[in-house]
Amino acid sequence: MRILGIETSCDETGVSILDFNQNQCQILVNLIYSQIAIHQPYGGVVPNLAKREHQKKLVPLFKLALDQTDLLKNKKTSPISKNKEEKIKEILGKDEILQKKLLEFLKKYSKPKIDLIAVTKGPGLAPALWPGVNFARALSFVWDIPLIGINHLEGHLFSAFLPKKIGEKEKINISKNLFPAIGLVISGGHTQLILVNGIGKYRLIGETRDDAAGECFDKTARLLRLDYPGGPAIAKEALKSKKMVKSAIEIKLPRPMINQKNYDFSFSGLKTAVFYLVEHLKKQNISLKEIRPYLANEIQNSINEVLVAKTLRAAKNFKVKNVILGGGVVANEVLLNLFKKEIHEKLPKIGFIVPEKKYTGDNASMIALVAGIKGSKRDNWRNLQADANWQL
Ligand code: KG4
Ligand code: ZN
Repeated sequence: MRILGIETSCDETGVSILDFNQNQCQILVNLIYSQIAIHQPYGGVVPNLAKREHQKKLVPLFKLALDQTDLLKNKKTSPISKNKEEKIKEILGKDEILQKKLLEFLKKYSKPKIDLIAVTKGPGLAPALWPGVNFARALSFVWDIPLIGINHLEGHLFSAFLPKKIGEKEKINISKNLFPAIGLVISGGHTQLILVNGIGKYRLIGETRDDAAGECFDKTARLLRLDYPGGPAIAKEALKSKKMVKSAIEIKLPRPMINQKNYDFSFSGLKTAVFYLVEHLKKQNISLKEIRPYLANEIQNSINEVLVAKTLRAAKNFKVKNVILGGGVVANEVLLNLFKKEIHEKLPKIGFIVPEKKYTGDNASMIALVAGIKGSKRDNWRNLQADANWQL
């Protein structure tokens, strides 16, 4: 089965094609167009700009994906009917840029050998989700290809099982023996602890009450006048502190909710603490630039220690076999090392499953993979809708 994955929940446009056969999986192509440069001047994602970029990039990326996999058939012989053209216009509604590009494409090329279309239905930013969903609906309609809407968080949760190398066939080992597991999804929009009893069997046991972990990296980075996205910027800045002499000024930030027995998180207080600390240092005429590596280091440690402590508590109390990570924040190497150390010392029998760094951020391969492992459930292009708040 050849699965086309489409992802547009936030600020990356993702198009991927997977070959998925009885748990053998091969990523034929995994394309990601990142909008970071567009949102950077604003210090965060601007939903309407994200939407416009998805509208502009979906068709060119899709064409490139087909080109790279030799799936792009030569020129079409029969033109697309007037009826179909009208219906596509109806499906794409106000997405005029996308409408124009898709119609041009469909007039030139015929149906490629794709058996299933998997698209991120939610959660995410509604204006960003819709172009992806409508693009998938239009393709499903015009080529009569089955369609399924996928939960973005489920994608992150299983991203660790994607083949390590693009273009290589691998066995996807998601057996019953892995479960129960604790899944931690940490991204710019989410921080969730999920008890996973199998594919499709999830129980949300805790989540952030305010800002997500990635959002906290992004917002505190802004306070330190570092670039967006804040996670990699803070990690890089923190690394500098390791090569410096110990700061004369003691910098200590809170570890929010670390000792509470629940599995929830709260990161907005940490952001406020950083704000006041920066103001305090300013008043003392301490240069932000000099002190910044220590601040970044302490922010990173604070977020990471809370994430690890709560996840390990959940893993222990629910007697799970594995801890599975997913989401953009998993790219943080200091976090991964802390997880490894703590699991090794405190819960040595528990396995630790993490995605390759290239699959930590948003990508369409994880969306296609979930469609493959979930089996035969299908949606209809007529009524598939984006759902910005879709719970796992
Ligand atoms: O999963 P993702 O790409 O998009 C969402 O679904 O939100 O996650 C993006 C988030 C951003 O907040 C970004 O700052 C964070 O992941 N991130 C990191 C690192 N790389 C990306 N956070 C900490 N350390 C990193 N190295
Ligand atoms: Zn994500």
